[in-house]
Amino acid sequence: MGPRKLYPFLLTFLLIIYLRKTNTQTLDDAKDLLKKLFITDAYNKVVRPTCDQSATTNVSMSFYLTGIIDFDSQKEILTTSGYINIVWNDCKLIWNPLDYNNTYYILVPQDSVWTPDVDLRNSMSKLKGLGSSNFYLSVYNNGSVEWYPYGTWKSACNVDITYFPFDTQSCDLKFGTWAYTTGDVSITVDQDAINLTFYEENTAWTIVETSVNAINYMYSPVAVFTIKLNRKPLFFLLNILLPVIMLSLLNVCIFVLPAQSGEKASFAVTVFLSLVIFLSIVMGTLPQNSEEISFLGVYLVIMAAFSTLAVILTMFQIRLNSRDADVDPIPSWLIKLQVMVEVIRCRRCSKVHPATYSQDEVVMFSSDRTNLTGDTTSEKTKSKPQASNQQPIVTWNQICSSLDFVFFWVFSIGTVITSVTIVAIYNIDQR
Ligand SMILES: *[C@@H]1O[C@H](CO)[C@@H](O)[C@H](O)[C@H]1NC(C)=O
Ligand SMILES: *[C@@H]1O[C@H](CO)[C@@H](O)[C@H](O)[C@H]1NC(C)=O
Ligand SMILES: *[C@@H]1O[C@H](CO)[C@@H](O)[C@H](O)[C@H]1NC(C)=O
Ligand SMILES: *[C@@H]1O[C@H](CO)[C@@H](O)[C@H](O)[C@H]1NC(C)=O
Repeated sequence: MGPRKLYPFLLTFLLIIYLRKTNTQTLDDAKDLLKKLFITDAYNKVVRPTCDQSATTNVSMSFYLTGIIDFDSQKEILTTSGYINIVWNDCKLIWNPLDYNNTYYILVPQDSVWTPDVDLRNSMSKLKGLGSSNFYLSVYNNGSVEWYPYGTWKSACNVDITYFPFDTQSCDLKFGTWAYTTGDVSITVDQDAINLTFYEENTAWTIVETSVNAINYMYSPVAVFTIKLNRKPLFFLLNILLPVIMLSLLNVCIFVLPAQSGEKASFAVTVFLSLVIFLSIVMGTLPQNSEEISFLGVYLVIMAAFSTLAVILTMFQIRLNSRDADVDPIPSWLIKLQVMVEVIRCRRCSKVHPATYSQDEVVMFSSDRTNLTGDTTSEKTKSKPQASNQQPIVTWNQICSSLDFVFFWVFSIGTVITSVTIVAIYNIDQR
């Protein structure tokens, strides 16, 4: 072992000697001081530590938030961890530091001196007082007592779900005394916001702002620490909103399938069931609140309604598709619809099936003409051979196809309008 390797040991040794010289209080000093305060002066921790008992004891509080453990928006419980710095003056814990070899402060167990009976007012678990018996307080020679009770608190928080998942929640942590009234104890707040120096970021919520208020006009004094939280929407965007939008696209696609393919009804029902599952997932994350409804929930219900309608319409379509036009004649309004759809789809102008439709027209016009003109004999000879070898010119199948076309566009426009309205509501009301 060379002399160089000894340097660290030497340094440590010198440091210990140096520390001993500055911190000159001995075991006896501490013992003497505690004897003076608690035995000679007979400290009584029940007595409010203001020498003039008519004066109020001023308790100052500041909150250091260390983390948001959980925000159960369904049960409306915010679980936070952190500590409160509570400072007050105890007129019976004053000494001259020079008498005790420069003892400027001592640590005493929480249970041995007076502490304000502060607790979380809006607690959702049982009240048990701040700190615990193995917590220590710092007592300074000028009587100043500092208490740093650390804790995990479950507080009630009203959740406003209207804009879920783009919602902002405001939660209060109300710390107040239970027995001491505003005449006995007055609470002041040091900082105008919650101290976030030791705060660890939460993955689901962002703190937008915090505020602190002391309320001393009620029966007992309360310090209200308000945390404004913004939900990080990415999770719900990816896992709920996007799938719902995809499902509403699929919902429209029901009308792309032809009625004669056997899949149409089962596909419609599957889309409906998927939407209902998403609805129940969303409702599972929201509080069972009947006072306000979330726009996302309304959107899902509207989509589910669209889907239900699609299922019902599909069933009717399949039934119509199996009809025979010879047995069940097609009502004239459906034929008009069919003609209209053909015009819109521009089947006529492309002249792909000119024969079919000219025949159709001939039949329609000829029947009209028989009524208008009195010349029935010549018309009968013309129309009879046509009627005899007349095939079903407009079939139920074609009607179903036209209905598909109409429903496809009606549902598309309906879905787009609903989605745009919801997005607009979110955007306008968030400003
Ligand atoms: C507490 O504060 C009030 C107002 O600031 C003051 O009047 C009162 O004397 C203080 N009490 C004590 C014990 O210092
Ligand atoms: C202060 O400390 C020294 C030794 O560190 C001791 O001799 C002396 O008695 C102490 N004074 C008092 C008042 O306790
Ligand atoms: C008492 O002393 C401590 C530590 O030096 C200081 O922080 C505090 O402000 C003092 N209190 C009063 C009431 O002077
Ligand atoms: C928060 O607390 C730290 C440590 O006590 C302090 O340095 C800082 O100034 C405080 N911040 C605010 C905003 O009061």
